[in-house]
Amino acid sequence: MMKGKHIILGICGGIAAYKSVYLLRLLVKAGADVQVVITPAGKEFITPVTLSSLSGHPVISEFFTANTGSWNSHVDLGLWADAMVIAPATASTIGKMANGIADNMLVTTYLSAKCPVFLAPAMDLDMMAHPSTSRNLELLRSYGNHIIEPGVGELASHLVGKGRMEEPENIVKAMEAYFASKCDLSGRRVLITAGPTYERIDPVRFIGNYSSGKMGFAIAEECARRGAEVTLVSGPVSLKCSNPHIKRIDVESARQMLSAAGEAFAGSDVAIMCAAVADYYVENQADSKIKRENNEIPQIKLQRNPDIAATLGANNRPGQVLVGFALETDYEAVNAKLKIEKKNLDFIVLNSLRDKDACFGTDTNKVTIISRDGSEKPFGLKPKADVAKDVVDEVVARLQK
Ligand code: CTP
Repeated sequence: MMKGKHIILGICGGIAAYKSVYLLRLLVKAGADVQVVITPAGKEFITPVTLSSLSGHPVISEFFTANTGSWNSHVDLGLWADAMVIAPATASTIGKMANGIADNMLVTTYLSAKCPVFLAPAMDLDMMAHPSTSRNLELLRSYGNHIIEPGVGELASHLVGKGRMEEPENIVKAMEAYFASKCDLSGRRVLITAGPTYERIDPVRFIGNYSSGKMGFAIAEECARRGAEVTLVSGPVSLKCSNPHIKRIDVESARQMLSAAGEAFAGSDVAIMCAAVADYYVENQADSKIKRENNEIPQIKLQRNPDIAATLGANNRPGQVLVGFALETDYEAVNAKLKIEKKNLDFIVLNSLRDKDACFGTDTNKVTIISRDGSEKPFGLKPKADVAKDVVDEVVARLQK
């Protein structure tokens, strides 16, 4: 469940910080990539050297790295993370988080994080019982944060009561349970095509298109995050995959893409055709570079490429979900609906080149999901990662039908 997950471990200044070392070990052992962010007070209890050795990353504590002057971007960290866990969470940090007092790296990172946040409070029993702590925890809960309740036992003060940080094993279990509940594609195999195809003219030239692959790659990451085993058949792009549950197959031409996708399709529950496939290939490809000095202007003879989506759609077995994309410039909905029929799709994701910031290469997209029954679900302009969530939600709804 934790394999490949990006986790921020926030450590505050409390005696329970010694347990954070063990928590860090457990997370790393479970396959997570962990970045530690520690408050200045936290460093009084546990040294960054121990934490950086175990995590494999320099520990972040200050807004700037003193010797280089470089800025530690809490915004980038917040976007990188799949989850943030703050253990121990002291009364002071809980108060700052609840009220947006961003005076250290840990709280600013928390405020920037878009991922689920877990807190394991640890403090003395009277601090824990104080109405201000209860109110702050209630506020944090109301923001959607997950509070891992402290246990009852002997505390640092030698008093006995509620305030002991939950054991690291149980913190990991709580996080795993959360991720398991989000894994609505667990056990499913998803095939995705992405990027452009290149159709070779000669060894140095090709016919291609502007597709960057960003939309397909975002969908692949989203499916893998939700528990699927993903086969991503990609045309030539400069993107990287980060999730280990994505098996990437790089191809160049439409015919190579069909061969790879066709092979993976039989074992797939879902196929999402995101690639911008060239409709034609060059029949008279040259084996050597075509030279300008030749007197004649070269003639490129085109031949029709296979329609990958339609080929898969014709071999669809019951229960398999097949999704297409349509990038249109005119009569968008009409054209998209025709493609649903022609390719035997369950639904199509339409975007219009007329929408600003919703085309090739951008980080945002604006889509309408159109179903076989003709119903249309329009969405606003959003980051491609969020569009991916909408598309995958629609896939999951079909699988559950
Ligand atoms: N598609 C495909 N193989 C092709 C062409 C398209 O798998 N040879 C898929 C795309 O990945 C997309 C859908 O079919 O999911 C629609 O692609 P698009 O290029 O919009 O449609 P075409 O069928 O090529 O029609 P046209 O170019 O006339 O709009």
